[in-house]
Amino acid sequence: MATYIVVIMITLVLMSIYILGVLSDNLYENEQINLFAKANMMSDTITSYVSVDNISAIEEYTNQLLMGTNIRGIVVNLTYNVLFDSNRELTGKVLMREIIQSAAIGEQAHSVIEDDLGINMMTVAVPVRQKDNNDIIGVVYLVEAMTNIDQTIGYVKINMYMVSALICILVGFLSFGMSYIVTSPVDEFTSVAKEISKGNFDKRVKVKGHNEFANLATTINYMCSELGNLENNRRKFVSDASHELKTPLTTIKLICDSVISTDNPDPKMTHEFLRDLSEEVDRLTRIIERLLTLTKLDSGKSVPKFESVDIITLLNSIVKKLSTNAKAKDIVLYTDFKLENPAPISLDYDKIWEAIYNITDNAIKYNDEGGYVKIGLSKEGKNLLIQIEDNGHGIPKEEHEHIFDRFFRLDDSRARETGGTGLGLAIAKEAVILHGGHIDVSSEVGMGSTFSIYLPYNTEFDNS
Ligand SMILES: Nc1ncnc2c1ncn2[C@@H]1O[C@H](COP(=O)(O)OP(=O)(O)OP(=O)(O)O)[C@@H](O)[C@H]1O
Ligand SMILES: [Mg+2]
Repeated sequence: MATYIVVIMITLVLMSIYILGVLSDNLYENEQINLFAKANMMSDTITSYVSVDNISAIEEYTNQLLMGTNIRGIVVNLTYNVLFDSNRELTGKVLMREIIQSAAIGEQAHSVIEDDLGINMMTVAVPVRQKDNNDIIGVVYLVEAMTNIDQTIGYVKINMYMVSALICILVGFLSFGMSYIVTSPVDEFTSVAKEISKGNFDKRVKVKGHNEFANLATTINYMCSELGNLENNRRKFVSDASHELKTPLTTIKLICDSVISTDNPDPKMTHEFLRDLSEEVDRLTRIIERLLTLTKLDSGKSVPKFESVDIITLLNSIVKKLSTNAKAKDIVLYTDFKLENPAPISLDYDKIWEAIYNITDNAIKYNDEGGYVKIGLSKEGKNLLIQIEDNGHGIPKEEHEHIFDRFFRLDDSRARETGGTGLGLAIAKEAVILHGGHIDVSSEVGMGSTFSIYLPYNTEFDNS
C-alpha cells in the first residue's frame, strides 16, 4: 500500500513541476514579448519623432507609454551614459549591462536577473537607430519586476500542493479500504491452502457475494472436496490392497505351519499342501500383476500403442481362448456381429483384448451351467459398440455404480473362490477410457447382465 502512495506522490510532484514549469515559461514569455513591443515602440518613437538629445520629449512619451505599469524605462547612448531614466535615479550615470552592450551592436537582448531583494527582474534592450542611415545611436533598456507573475505562480503552486496532498490522503484511505477488501479473502485463501498442503481437506473458504473472490472460493472448495475424495479413495485402495495381499499370505503361512508341525507327513498330504500353496502363490501373483497394471494406467505411464486392428479377429481370439471355460460350464459362447468386414480400428490391441477378455470371462464365471454369453459388435454413431451379454446372476441396481471400483466383488467369498481379484473391471474401464471411450452396464439380478463398450471408431492409424 505504501508503495502505491509513494508512486502516486512522485507522479503528482512530477506533474506539478511540469505544469508549473509550463505555466511560468508561458507567463514569462508573454511578458517578454510585451516588454520587447514596448521597447521597440520607444525606440521607433525616439527615432521618428524625437531625437536622443530631446530628453524632455522622451520623458513625456515614455511616461505616457509606461503609465499604469511597473516598467522602468532607461535610454542610454553609445558611451553607456544614461540619457533618461523613468526613475530618475541613474540619469547622467554610466550603466553597463551585458544586454545593453548586445543591443549597442544591433541585437535585441533580454535576461532575467534577481535584484538585491531577491525579486526576479525581467530586462530587455533594443537598439535605437538613426532614421536616415540606420546607424545605432543608443539603446532602450526596460526593466520590469516579475512580482505579479511570481505571485501568480506561487499561488498556483500552493494550490497544486494542497490538491496533491488531498489526493494522497484520499488515495491512502482508498488503498487502505481496498487492501482490506482484497487482503482479507486472500488471507483466508492462504490459510485454507496451508491446511490443504498439510492434508486437511475438510477446510472450506466462506463464499461471500457474487464477485471473482466468491468464484475463486467456490473453486477452492470444490478442489478441497475433490482432493478429499481422492485422499479417501487412496486410503481405501491402500487398505483394500493390504487386505487382499494379506489373505493369501495368511493361507500360505497356515499351510507352511501345518507342514512343519506334522511329523513324518504323508507324501500325498504334502503334495496336497504344496498344490494349495502353489494356488495361493498364483493368486498373489495375479493380484500383484493386476495392481501393477492399474498403477501404470493411473500414473499415465501406460501410453497406448495404437495399431491397426481387425476387431473381428480380436473378438474371435477371445472366444477361442474362453471356449474351454465356457464348455466346462456348459455355457454357449457365441458372437453376433452386425458389421461385416468392418474397417480396421486404431487400438492398443493388448489393452482392449485384456478388457474384453475380462468382461467375457466374468460373464462365464458369474453365470449358471447351461447359460449363454453373447459377444455383439455394431456401430453406434461415431463409436464401435461391443456388447457382452449373459443370462447369469446379474448385478443389483444399487451396485452398478460400484462395479468398476477397485477390489469390488458382489459376493466376496464366492468371487474369491473363483479366483477373482476384483480388479478386472477397474482395469477394463481404465483401458477403455485411455482410448477415449466408455463402458456401461445394464443388469438385473437373476436375469443377466450386458456390458457395453463404446470405442471411438478411429480408422486412421496413429501411434503418436
Ligand atoms: N457378468 C457379471 N455378472 C454378475 N456379476 C458380475 C459380472 N461381472 C462382474 N461381476 C461382479 O463384479 C465383481 C468385479 O468384477 P471384476 O472383473 O472387477 O473382478 P473379479 O472378476 O472378481 O476378479 P478378476 O477379474 O481379477 O478375476 C465380480 O467379483 C462380480 O461379483
Ligand atoms: Mg473379472
